[in-house]
Amino acid sequence: MMLNINLSWSALLVILVSCFTASGYINPILPGANPDPSILRVGRDYWLVVSSFEFTPGIPIYHSIDLINWTLHSHALTRPSQLSMYMVPQSLGVWASTLRYHNGRYYISSEKLDNYPTTYPRGFYVWSDNIASGVWSDPVYFDNPGFDADLFWDDDGTVYLSNTRAIVFNGPHAVSSYISKIDLATGNTLTRPEVLVNSTVPWIEGTHIYKLNGTYYLFTAAGGTQTNTHQEQAFRSSVGPTGPWEPCPWNPIAHNPNGVAVQNTGHADIVQAPDGNWWAVLLARRNQGKFAQLGRETYLVPVTWQDGWPVFNNYQPIAEVMPGLYNITRPKLWIDNFDQRGSSELDIGWYTVRTPYKSRYSLRERPGYLRIYGNYMNLTEVASPAVYLRKQTDFNATWSTSLEYYPGEQDVGEAGAVLWLTEQYNQAIGVRSCDSDPANRCIVTTTNTGANLTFIENLVQIPNNGSVQLYIKAETDQYSLGYSVGNNSTATPTYLISFPNSLIPQSLSYSGYYFGLYSTGRSVPNLVPADFAYARVDVAN
Ligand SMILES: *[C@@H]1O[C@H](CO)[C@@H](O)[C@H](O)[C@H]1NC(C)=O
Ligand SMILES: *[C@@H]1O[C@H](CO)[C@@H](O)[C@H](O)[C@H]1NC(C)=O
Ligand SMILES: *[C@@H]1O[C@H](CO)[C@@H](O)[C@H](O)[C@H]1NC(C)=O
Ligand SMILES: *[C@@H]1O[C@H](CO)[C@@H](O)[C@H](O)[C@H]1NC(C)=O
Ligand SMILES: *[C@@H]1O[C@H](CO)[C@@H](O)[C@H](O)[C@H]1NC(C)=O
Ligand SMILES: *[C@@H]1O[C@H](CO)[C@@H](O)[C@H](O)[C@H]1NC(C)=O
Ligand SMILES: *[C@@H]1O[C@H](CO)[C@@H](O)[C@H](O)[C@H]1NC(C)=O
Ligand SMILES: *[C@@H]1O[C@H](CO)[C@@H](O)[C@H](O)[C@H]1NC(C)=O
Ligand SMILES: *[C@@H]1O[C@H](CO)[C@@H](O)[C@H](O)[C@H]1NC(C)=O
Ligand SMILES: *[C@@H]1O[C@H](CO)[C@@H](O)[C@H](O)[C@H]1NC(C)=O
Repeated sequence: MMLNINLSWSALLVILVSCFTASGYINPILPGANPDPSILRVGRDYWLVVSSFEFTPGIPIYHSIDLINWTLHSHALTRPSQLSMYMVPQSLGVWASTLRYHNGRYYISSEKLDNYPTTYPRGFYVWSDNIASGVWSDPVYFDNPGFDADLFWDDDGTVYLSNTRAIVFNGPHAVSSYISKIDLATGNTLTRPEVLVNSTVPWIEGTHIYKLNGTYYLFTAAGGTQTNTHQEQAFRSSVGPTGPWEPCPWNPIAHNPNGVAVQNTGHADIVQAPDGNWWAVLLARRNQGKFAQLGRETYLVPVTWQDGWPVFNNYQPIAEVMPGLYNITRPKLWIDNFDQRGSSELDIGWYTVRTPYKSRYSLRERPGYLRIYGNYMNLTEVASPAVYLRKQTDFNATWSTSLEYYPGEQDVGEAGAVLWLTEQYNQAIGVRSCDSDPANRCIVTTTNTGANLTFIENLVQIPNNGSVQLYIKAETDQYSLGYSVGNNSTATPTYLISFPNSLIPQSLSYSGYYFGLYSTGRSVPNLVPADFAYARVDVAN
């Protein structure tokens, strides 16, 4: 009897405690296509960089003071002298970076891939003495090719570059990570690159080297990012950054099991909070069925130390709901009214594809509108069409815009809203002259599903005057493209087409879906401007 009472009291206590301590934090901390995070703390400021592939500007830099509330602060690569990408295929461009701070200077080491693997990934670093200014140097190029470049400063000032390449000197795997001393001023290699460790799983990449309490630590991603073998491993050495490296007894230190919501965990970087606690950021995917349309996202994981070895999340799988810190409320509405208050640039968070030869938009010609003049490129070319994109960050959300676009009888151009993964995989709803009757305007949907399959459907005639609202409704397993006519942002859309998220070839893209606005002249410059009154995202739940 006594025992029963005790049990009920403790059960009640558990319920009460869980009611009042239920708050925790929500992963991913950076939803949407934000892979390969590298993190740094200087003073009270945390800074975090992610990969940007073929998108411009390159290398997003996020800022936070509490590890939960992150703001997109700036980009490291904003000028063609830093980054130029012309015929760069999808998913190449800028791969993983490492963000470091040494003697008052910030460094981002990275690389650009023009055509992997037939050309070598060209490594480089950029530096800034004032990260808050958002201004970074031109690249200092390494002469040792490889991706996932990491810089490590030893106590004597020697600088080491570790990176990963597919050319094998003496490693057992097709891809191996190497380390060499470099001359920081020139980026030149001073010692022959040596294999860091011989991995027990097909290959390591994403190397980060630290020296903590006099011991060298090497963290690496392993197993390949696309498969369920992706994981994080740790090593340590008492000798130096070239090893020999001893593997952590419980490697992999992060590797979520099959069947849980969060998959492909790995590519970690660690940081110590002012209170002494350690944290890791890493990438993971949330598959919806077979596919993860938000791409590889950034997660936060508590790190503790056991016998001088790192323990991620107390040996537990990494989850969407984690204990500690706090549960941030994210806004359900994001809107850009293109009211730039004098600026001629789109707000931070808009991207375009590759390096445009010239700008094709104006925020000044018609104040309060984003005016796009399509160039001759269409959305299926390995080129730089006039498309402006924002990362999709919620599974259930609607992207919408209001468009004024009046193509004349002679104009073959088109403008509208697009769901963008790559030039091969994008789905658009736009306005153009009707094929059957070019004197009139039509709504058109275009689905590019790769394998050279383009479906142009739903030429629905609409009035020749007035604006049209365009909608891309995202749900966990499908997308729908819709429109409404008239100048009424609260009108109920008519959805013309839906397609499953499984149109997305997960293995073909390292990125995730973007929502966008576009205009194209379809092989000639578009002489008619497309005016967008707003872009908005309404999160459904
Ligand atoms: C976090 O807050 C949201 C509401 O903003 C709530 O729906 C959710 O249950 C909370 N999650 C946790 C783990 O506290
Ligand atoms: C997050 O940070 C931004 C920028 O510093 C601030 O405006 C906002 O209020 C913060 N949000 C929360 C929930 O703390
Ligand atoms: C990796 O394996 C090769 C072949 O067995 C060996 O020559 C090399 O020394 C090893 N490297 C490391 C860093 O263990
Ligand atoms: C470094 O040493 C201190 C003091 O012994 C210890 O508390 C801490 O956990 C160590 N840190 C690491 C990363 O091993
Ligand atoms: C885009 O342009 C290329 C080159 O002119 C052409 O081959 C392709 O069919 C066009 N695609 C669409 C969807 O119009
Ligand atoms: C998206 O909506 C579906 C259907 O309402 C729901 O089952 C699912 O949990 C939602 N997903 C998220 C991440 O909110
Ligand atoms: C698409 O067309 C190009 C050019 O004709 C061809 O080289 C390529 O193999 C095709 N791709 C597919 C997946 O069919
Ligand atoms: C659009 O055209 C219709 C028919 O010509 C006309 O009744 C209507 O007033 C026009 N609306 C605008 C906004 O110009
Ligand atoms: C739509 O409404 C806005 C705000 O009332 C107005 O500025 C704009 O001129 C209207 N556009 C059209 C095409 O009627
Ligand atoms: C806009 O559309 C909504 C929903 O169809 C309707 O209730 C509202 O009256 C319309 N507003 C105008 C100004 O036409």
